[in-house]
Formats: sequence, C-alpha cells, structure tokens
Amino acid sequence: MSAVAYVNGRICSQQDAAISVFDHGFLYGEGVYEVIRTYGGELFLVGRHFRRLRASASMITLDVGMSDSALENIVRETIAAYRAGSGDPARAQDVLARILLTRGIGEMSYDPTKSPHPSLVVIVKPLVPPPAAAYERGVAVSLVSVIRNHPASVDPRIKSNNLLNNVLAMQEALRRGPYFEAILRNYRGELAECSQSNLFLVKDGTARTPALDAGLLAGITREFVEEVAVEAGVPTEDAVLRDDDLLGADEAFLTSTSKEIVPIVRVDDRVIGDGRPGPVTRVLLDAYRRKARTVAGRG
Ligand code: PDD
Repeated sequence: MSAVAYVNGRICSQQDAAISVFDHGFLYGEGVYEVIRTYGGELFLVGRHFRRLRASASMITLDVGMSDSALENIVRETIAAYRAGSGDPARAQDVLARILLTRGIGEMSYDPTKSPHPSLVVIVKPLVPPPAAAYERGVAVSLVSVIRNHPASVDPRIKSNNLLNNVLAMQEALRRGPYFEAILRNYRGELAECSQSNLFLVKDGTARTPALDAGLLAGITREFVEEVAVEAGVPTEDAVLRDDDLLGADEAFLTSTSKEIVPIVRVDDRVIGDGRPGPVTRVLLDAYRRKARTVAGRG
C-alpha cells in the first residue's frame, strides 16, 4: 500500500480515496493545505503547521471547524492506519501527512454560505527525501519568468490548493532542463521564493532570505532555519534580494519540510560560489537535522 487517506471521516486505501466532483477544492481550487513530516516517527512542528493552516483558512473565509487536538488525532489515526497496512508498524520510515481543507461540496457558486460543510482530507505516504547527491553535491535551479502571485491576487501567504502558478513556474524550469527547482521573482522584480520551497543566499557569512513582504509563503522550515542559525552562530537577515545578490552569492540553499536544506550550486548556466555546497550551508544542515530530531514529538 503506497498511501492511505482520511476523507471526511473515513480512512481508506489510495485506490478508494475519492472526493466529489462537486467539491469546491476540485471545481475552483478553493482550499488550503499543509504538509507535515515525522522524524523518528514523531510529528514535527505540528503546532506551527496547524497555526498556519488556520491562518490560510481564515484568509479564504474558511473555518477549520475543529480543535487542534481533534485534528491531530485524525492525523495520528491516519498515520497509524498507514503503518498498519505498510508492514512498517515499527515506524522505521518517516512519513508525510498532507492535510487538505476545502470549501466542501455545494452549489456551483462562489458564495461561501452556499457550501457550509468543509471537506477534510489527510493523505499519508512515505517521505521520499531528495537523493543523497543533492545534499553532497548541491542542485541546479532555474530563475524563471513566471512571477510569484501579487499579494493582492492569491496572496502567497495563503498555502492554497490552487497551485497553478507554482506549477507553471516549475514547468518553465523543466522545459529548460532537468532543474531541481524554479526561483520566482515578485511583481517588483525582487527574488521571492521557489515553486515549492523558500530561498536563502549566503554572503560574507550572513544567511539572507527574502522578507515576507516580498510576497511568499512563510515557510516553517525557513523560520526553523532562522532559529537554528542563531544557535549555530550564523547571522540571518530578512532582506530585499535581487538577481545580482543571487548570482554574486557565496552560497545559496532552499528550504522546505520534506527537503530540509538543499544546497544550490548553479542557477541556469551560472555557478554559485565555487560550485560546491558551502560551509555555512553545511553547518546549518547539520544543526537543522540535530535540532529537528530533538524537537519532533514536542508539538
Ligand atoms: N511546500 N514556498 C512554497 C511555495 C511551498 O510550497 C513550500 C512548501 C515552502 C516551504 O514551506 P515549509 O517549510 O513550511 O514546508 C515555501 C510543501 C512542502 C509542498 O508543497 O509539498
């Protein structure tokens, strides 16, 4: 069994997991989501993910409709069902839990009062991290022409199920070559983030990341990296960053829940730094992994 899903009160196999074509998540991309992972079988930063889920939901006038502990129980039960069916009850393999909350089934209307019952889906599947070579040798990314949504459009702070803009950015990167990620600028031409991850640049020992008002997702890994960096003695800064900062960086890396910290060594045909993962990135990745394992399970 490759995945298990909770769908509106029922836990089922990947084959049986289905949602109505009248669900507004399907009809309009009207929903929000979170991706949580485990370390050593323990949920990582679940409280932060639930806070962001509530924030995303409220930005589209959607109510989670249950307490954090009720939601956590559903996630735990779905993980337990996955483990029971996967032949890995000992929790050797970490998992990803994707929580999706949509407007639910209703009239074909944009009026939220016409669809008062949200749909809740939790998909649990094995965590497949990037290959070891990505961490050891770094990855190449492409700086694409698709721009990150204007904050007055679908605000990038909403972790929205409507991912078409991100998909288009990654499609552009993949048309150019086998790139690991796409970097997007914002409507002002400043660097924003990647299609599925946040971006950091290192210059003269300081790790800088685009500030939230550049219009980007407030990544939980991004925030955790900034906390880990304090303990590791690496200064960090939220800043306005442009193409020149990227191409002139000593080091660069991307961050996300499933990828942790992945060194970037090339942007299109331009080499970053000396073309190898740099010392600051390595220190942060080691410190990140150590701290993640310590705090997992503590909410
Ligand atoms: N993606 N920016 C975007 C656009 C993202 O989609 C993600 C996460 C991030 C990093 O957020 P976090 O550190 O909270 O995972 C930044 C998830 C993992 C996904 O779509 O699978």
